Formats: sequence, C-alpha cells, structure tokens
Amino acid sequence: MLGKRFIRRCYNSSMSFKKRIVVGNWKMSPETVYEAKEIFSKIKRRAKNYKKVQVVICPPDLHVVPLVKIAARSGIHIGVQDVFWEDEGFFTGQISPKMAYDAGARFAILGHSERRKMGESSSQVAKKVSAVIRDKIVAVLCVGENARDPEGNYLSFLREQIMSSLVLVSKEAVKAGLIIAYEPVWEIGRKDMKSMNPADLRQTVIFIKKVLFDAYGDYATQVPILYGGSVSSINASSLIADGDISGFLVGRQSLDPNLFGEILKSAHEAR
Ligand code: PGA
Repeated sequence: MLGKRFIRRCYNSSMSFKKRIVVGNWKMSPETVYEAKEIFSKIKRRAKNYKKVQVVICPPDLHVVPLVKIAARSGIHIGVQDVFWEDEGFFTGQISPKMAYDAGARFAILGHSERRKMGESSSQVAKKVSAVIRDKIVAVLCVGENARDPEGNYLSFLREQIMSSLVLVSKEAVKAGLIIAYEPVWEIGRKDMKSMNPADLRQTVIFIKKVLFDAYGDYATQVPILYGGSVSSINASSLIADGDISGFLVGRQSLDPNLFGEILKSAHEAR
C-alpha cells in the first residue's frame, strides 16, 4: 500500500532526530504551585540521567512561570496546554502565543481531545497551530480517532482531522515547529492503563507519515510523531521499541516522578 521510497524516507528521517521527546500533560493538576515545584524538582533529578530525551512539562498556565524558573539550565522545556490564536485584543480569559513565549513556554499542546470535546473545532485548532509556530513555539498537535471500526473508516477520519488542523500551516512551518501527538481517544485515561498494541500503533504511524508526506513532501519527514493514551512505566518500552514513534505524550503518569522517570528511561534506552 505504501511506496518503498516513502517508507525509506520516513525511516531515514527518524534516524536523524536528535532526541526522543517525552511531553508531560499535567492537565488541571496539581492544585498548588508548591506541589507543582515539588513534582517538577523530582522529575528534574530523574531526567538528568536520560540525556537522549527532550523532556517537556506542560503544567496549568498559572504554574508556567514558577516552573520556568526552576527549569533553568536543566534542559527541560516548559509548555502550555492550549493558547489562543490572536496576539492581542478583547478576548477575556485567553492567553496569546506571545504571552506564552514571554513566560518561557516553548511548546504548546493544541487540539487535545479533551478540548475538542468541549467544542474546539479543527478550524480553530488550525489557527492556533499556525499562530504558535509563527511566534516560535513548537506546536504539539493532538489527533486521534474516537473509535475504530473494522472497515477502517477511522483512517479517513484521521486524515481529515490532520489536514484540517494543518490547513493554515506552510511547508516551512511544518519543518520548523510541528510535532504530531497521535492519541486515540479510546485509549486516553483508561483505568487499566492498557495502551494500544504496538503493531497497530506502527501501522497508524506509517499512515500518519504518509498523510503528512502527501501534503508536505520532504518537509514532513522531519516531523516527530508521539503516542499518547495510557502510556505507563510498564508499556512504554514496547510502544517505543515497536511503535515507530519518536516519544510520548503522557497524562497521569507524568505527575508521578518515579513512574515518569521510568518512562523517560524507556525512551532513553530505545534504539
Ligand atoms: P493519559 O492521558 O496518559 O492519562 O491517558 C494522556 C493525555 O490525555 O494526553
């Protein structure tokens, strides 16, 4: 189904990524700045051992500045979990990409399924993706189907979601600042922490690479693809060994420094 030339390019490009990438999405936790600093300091200590991994922590907005301060010179980046597309104006409650950058955030999770569930459309996500890259923040664009059907219609859904979220993004921007986080919605937040089968993940990642390649050609071969959805200290090794991914977007276990440390270790040791 996929051309050999295309697959070879993907594999060559994956080899050229300098580091694995592990993004922690803290969502609406923890409650206090004090706890955020505590958790972060422990993660910082663990992350020192795993130099092959670029760690990115995305706390709630109010915790960005205090964490940027303690992240200094650690190599860990701080990101935001969402951002608005305008740089200024009458938009109560919103934060602009320039404000996020000024606060020290260098990554932005965009289009997370929990935000899409609250009504965010792909055309809004598209504006956000293009705005953050313009303002020198790396966009971590989340995509993922709600469910799988045996006929494979979820693949068209995925293609459409990717393309409509990237409709305003140029080839140069894709190369400069885009990461795709593939998060099948049915795998997020599972109580049993059972993640996707790595072989199925691999197939889906190849599909996503093909979609990007069709749209952006060689520019897309540099785009890291992460997996998110019940990533844990138990399943991280097999997902990264067999899933053809560049790293993870981690929810719950990114708030536990020990478990998150194990995930970093798996990413660091992956070949
Ligand atoms: P989870 O969350 O790791 O707790 O499943 C992932 C996410 O929502 O990004």
